[in-house]
Amino acid sequence: MSEIIPVGLGERSYEIHVGSGLVAKAGVLLKPFASGIVAVVSDTNVAKLHLDRFCAALRAAQIDARPITMPSGESTKSFAGLEQLSSALLNTGVDRGGLIVALGGGVVGDLTGLAAGLLKRGIDFAQVPTTLLAQVDSSVGGKTGINSRQGKNLVGAFHQPVLVMADTALLDTLPKREFRAGYAEVAKFGLLGDAAFFAWLEKNWPDVFAGGPAREHAIAVCCRGKAAIVARDERETGERALLNLGHTFGHAIEAGCGFSDRLLHGEAVALGMALAFEFSARKGLIGAPEAARAANHLAAVGLPTHLKDVPGGTPGADALMDLIAQDKKVRRGTLTFILVRDIGRAFVENNVDAAEVRAFLSDKLAER
Ligand code: GLY
Repeated sequence: MSEIIPVGLGERSYEIHVGSGLVAKAGVLLKPFASGIVAVVSDTNVAKLHLDRFCAALRAAQIDARPITMPSGESTKSFAGLEQLSSALLNTGVDRGGLIVALGGGVVGDLTGLAAGLLKRGIDFAQVPTTLLAQVDSSVGGKTGINSRQGKNLVGAFHQPVLVMADTALLDTLPKREFRAGYAEVAKFGLLGDAAFFAWLEKNWPDVFAGGPAREHAIAVCCRGKAAIVARDERETGERALLNLGHTFGHAIEAGCGFSDRLLHGEAVALGMALAFEFSARKGLIGAPEAARAANHLAAVGLPTHLKDVPGGTPGADALMDLIAQDKKVRRGTLTFILVRDIGRAFVENNVDAAEVRAFLSDKLAER
């Protein structure tokens, strides 16, 4: 059984398919979008597990599939990675009549989406996310990009996919740590706008981790939530910014760790969300017990919620503030944060005083 969730964006509308075993149907699902060459971009980790099977499913539907394997890891999401991938894609001969498929996690999806948007001034692409994080967040909504020396995702473009195929069975091979990191984005959907879903997660998270119907349900809830937000605010002029809950603190800490595997993106987001809730409590916007409830759930699944949880430590308050100031969620000198009034009631605050944030981080760092 699979669920089909529409993303309503006028002529750029598309469907998200969520279900177990979709890879076997990849040829049938992608055939309508593939009248020419189909380049399938993967990374070394995903390629070992899924690439041959995926390409075989395409070829069974008479699709001319051309696999490309990129190095795995965040460092591939770079100018060098974009150059390498662009060259490999051009060598396949894929053109505007064809299709580029991103078969992988957020790194492959973001990089491939950007390359697809740039090559020959825009080639259609489809997302086949293989991590929990990519299935519930990064594969939906058309944000593509690479990192630069100045920070994460600072070079990118909106380029919507023509289809998202989230095969939940692919998550069975995901290392537990990566699944857990992706779960931070699942919890984010409850924390930012769906208190009932958050309460459901508090009870059912072991089943989400175990797999089966609870996992599929959670992924579909997140995709429905994201599809609705993207349909209302594709270009992030308002509401879509709520999806950045935890990301301003999180990106700064992630950058401070050199985007290394000391702290995975989802782990940084979990820590960032715990900090956003605590900062909101410090400003008197939310009660301390509610802020603690958010952090307690993240901690219960094994995600980091304190700066001292980061292996090897984090940079100091001044360095973190520099990284926050470089974040693209800073407008005209004021800091923008996603803050909360309750579980499920996030809002965009454009006028956060940098000195207040610095004092907060300084106090948190002193808690060691
Ligand atoms: N990952 C946040 C967004 O797509 O807007």
